Amino acid sequence: MPSSPSGGPLLFTPEQHTRALTLVGEFSQQYLATVADRPVYPPVDRAALRAIAHEPLPRSGMPLETLFAELEAVVVPNSTHSAHPRFLPYVQPSPNALSPYADHVAAVLNQNCNLWHLSPAANAVEQALLRWFADLFRLPGSAGGIVTSGGSMANLVALTAARDHALGSAARAEGLQGGGAPLVLYTSEEAHSSIDKAVSILGLGTNNLRKLPTDERFRLRLDALAAAVVADRAAGRRPFCVVASAGTVTTGAIDPLAELSGFCREQGLWLHVDGAYGALAALSERFSESMAGVGLADSVSLDPHKFLFCAFEAGCVLVRDRQHLVNAFSAQPSYLTMSEDPDFVDFANQGPQLSRAFKALKVWWSLKHFGADAFAATIERMHDLALHMGTEIERRPAFELLAPVVFNCVCFRVRGLDDAGNRRVLTSLVDGGDAFLGPALVKGRSGLRACFMNLRTERADVDFILDRLQELAGE
Ligand SMILES: Cc1ncc(COP(=O)(O)O)c(C=O)c1O
Repeated sequence: MPSSPSGGPLLFTPEQHTRALTLVGEFSQQYLATVADRPVYPPVDRAALRAIAHEPLPRSGMPLETLFAELEAVVVPNSTHSAHPRFLPYVQPSPNALSPYADHVAAVLNQNCNLWHLSPAANAVEQALLRWFADLFRLPGSAGGIVTSGGSMANLVALTAARDHALGSAARAEGLQGGGAPLVLYTSEEAHSSIDKAVSILGLGTNNLRKLPTDERFRLRLDALAAAVVADRAAGRRPFCVVASAGTVTTGAIDPLAELSGFCREQGLWLHVDGAYGALAALSERFSESMAGVGLADSVSLDPHKFLFCAFEAGCVLVRDRQHLVNAFSAQPSYLTMSEDPDFVDFANQGPQLSRAFKALKVWWSLKHFGADAFAATIERMHDLALHMGTEIERRPAFELLAPVVFNCVCFRVRGLDDAGNRRVLTSLVDGGDAFLGPALVKGRSGLRACFMNLRTERADVDFILDRLQELAGE
């Protein structure tokens, strides 16, 4: 039983704080030092996890040591180790070393980043981040934004602003019930599923989402877009928004942003760039030119929990004109004290959440501690690993590439096996715990996908994975 310091049973004495920090520190160091020796994907102990899932509510407390012992005995062995050097399945990085500590500090400070007077310093930090990102993409001084939980939420926030802009001044009062022809949104067949989700959450209906074909480089085809817009207008529907990708989730393709921006301007359409996967690669000179069109958008999604290697969660949305967020999200309830101040932003008025954690701290600290150049170099190292894997795949007759390697991901296939055979090899690899890759469906063909976002991965890991896959394919 924990002892009770003054202030009641939910507080720690200074000695208990020290003990908790020691346990956290020992756990963190030990876990990260041994993570490469663990199976990437654990042989799940279902009985132990069922016991956790059905555990009765504890009416009295237990010592910290018991909690950490359970962490070691049950939680860690039944966790998927995203920090393992051969964890490469999705657009999911291993966190940089500082960001978990920043989350701890943010939780101790427990700022509520909704109203500026509840979090003045955090407010300035979030503003700094938004300005750094807006400057990276040369967005104008009118730009604004908000830190979100991730790319899906950033897409939802941006598309809410786009929808309300299209509906006009009656958007908040009448919503889609105000009538009018259906609004139609355009994206490519390679777009992320969070766009489908946002379309249905926003009441637009996925029947009004056009997933258009892509060219040989997996980029949204402008001719297909133009034809779809003409057809929808002719049928009495209202085209309102195009979602382009700066890094499509499967192959990392970048849609033709400058051309799309010109088309959208001419047609009066909102251009949203889903840059959750790739846009922050603009930090590296290697990718800054290909990402130059990102800043032409009306809104942009970014994901610091991807290329800034922050621990979950940290996303971000930028809008060209911050007033669009205010129009879509502001609320002035009588029970909150809002006092406009030119130096601060009430972020509660620019997004769907009221209470918001100080997520910006880990992003701000990561950039300040390591510096933007360290991220640029890391992004280039991830690209180099993908290029190495691409070269190896082309060298080995056992494999074939499903798409050219243009970013930090590689889509490929075991030659001589059909789609089911490729899925079987992937399952065997993952279940064996040696490595974790993801599935890829590229122009109708199934294969495997490695996405390099893991700070501990070396070339030898790539070679190991390909050797292992060759063995599994032969079994
Ligand atoms: C292109 C793209 N958009 C959106 C998302 C969703 O981001 P999150 O998982 O942070 O919600 C992803 C995730 O991989 C993505 O690759």
